[in-house]
Amino acid sequence: MLTERIIANFDNALRTLAGQSPGSGRSNPARGTRDSLLRPWQRRRAGRLMRVNHTGEVMAQALYTGQAAGTDDPQLRSELLQARREEEDHLRWCEDRLRELRSRPSLLGPIWYGVGWGMGFAAARRGRGSNLGLVVAVERLVEKHLDEHLALLPPEDERSRTILEQMRQDEIAHADKAENLGAQPLPVWSETALRGLSKIMTRGALWV
Ligand SMILES: [Fe+2]
Ligand SMILES: [Fe+2]
Repeated sequence: MLTERIIANFDNALRTLAGQSPGSGRSNPARGTRDSLLRPWQRRRAGRLMRVNHTGEVMAQALYTGQAAGTDDPQLRSELLQARREEEDHLRWCEDRLRELRSRPSLLGPIWYGVGWGMGFAAARRGRGSNLGLVVAVERLVEKHLDEHLALLPPEDERSRTILEQMRQDEIAHADKAENLGAQPLPVWSETALRGLSKIMTRGALWV
């Protein structure tokens, strides 16, 4: 049983980093959206922003996997794994868009996966309230971040915008659900550390 769980954790890490996540089967929301001809500088800019979003989704996989691994509550674990499946869609859509923009995932993905898994596991070990509290804190942070990126993306880049808008709706739903399930607010130091870490991650992924 323990061996199976260890293997499942490694499996998610490898699939996430190799771009082989199965996803929930939802199709890319940008399908059918016009692929505007972006100027080279617009394409480069959109590619860098989408690389940041892709890295955020790698982190989401790691967090949810660590959180599911660290809880002893089977019901909560299945809720976390369901949210993780929806995050797999986000990862795939970001991968699709990176390819279209001729960009690439961040080279720092494996590091962020490790950090995220550890954070998720640690929060889960502190109990249900703190496990769900991490979901709320992270998802609300991502929502704010997506608002910023929707403002920063070239207005012509309708495909990236459609993807981010769908992701934003899903992240809001994940946070709302975690709140309903009994999330406890994280301590202030924790929220501050999370914001700092997210800044380092987003800045790093813009360049590397
Ligand atoms: Fe997401
Ligand atoms: Fe989410």
